[in-house]
Amino acid sequence: LTLTDIAAVATVARQHGLPLVVDNTFATPYLQQPLALGADIVVHSATKYLSGHGDAVAGVVVGRRAFIAACREATLADFGGALSPLTAYLVLRGLPTLALRMERHCANAQRVAAYLSQHPKVAWVRYPGLPSHPQHALARRQMRGFGGMVCFELAGGLAAGRALLNAVRLCTLAVSLGDVRTLITHPASTTHHQVPAERRRAMGITDGLVRLSVGIEDPDDIVADLEQALDRVP
Ligand SMILES: Cc1ncc(COP(=O)(O)O)c(C=O)c1O
Repeated sequence: LTLTDIAAVATVARQHGLPLVVDNTFATPYLQQPLALGADIVVHSATKYLSGHGDAVAGVVVGRRAFIAACREATLADFGGALSPLTAYLVLRGLPTLALRMERHCANAQRVAAYLSQHPKVAWVRYPGLPSHPQHALARRQMRGFGGMVCFELAGGLAAGRALLNAVRLCTLAVSLGDVRTLITHPASTTHHQVPAERRRAMGITDGLVRLSVGIEDPDDIVADLEQALDRVP
């Protein structure tokens, strides 16, 4: 959960005549608008917050008319990848509630981050909405809210991560994000378990690292689930 200063990078890109492409999936257009900050092209995985319910796989590219026309005429024609009508419908169905959902994702994530920050089994928490986040000031400047993604490190490492994932009941074990349901991953024992430990750590994926995509459930329920699960963590 490291932020990029989009306006600063846009200035450098402009000086060098380079287009700036921003993946705005985590933030969504509701929380952050890269074009207004100087980006040239914005991409979104609409699989995540834009559709919002974990039931569609789609993507969006935003840019100037000529660039989008070229994407349609060359890239799309060469690679295929057209949305099915049902998928397009699901994305459109999600969009009208984007603002409401993002407000709730942000509020819930702030609450969960604050809860985890004071838990004795948690070594550290990373959430742009916490004043302890090294880029909290940038997040305030560049975003309308701090998003739904929270990372934290369990003091008990690998065994603690495994135990937590086995103990959660409301949180769903899934690698995606931006769902109305809270999703939890422990990369060291799941997505990255085949990566040698040293390389994994060099990538910043520590043994006790847990990622939460905080959903829009009742925040008391999310905290209660994490609490009962953390009670079972060594
Ligand atoms: C930030 C970000 N961008 C793009 C993608 C790719 O999305 P999709 O699964 O819709 O291809 C992901 C998927 O995890 C993502 O997290």
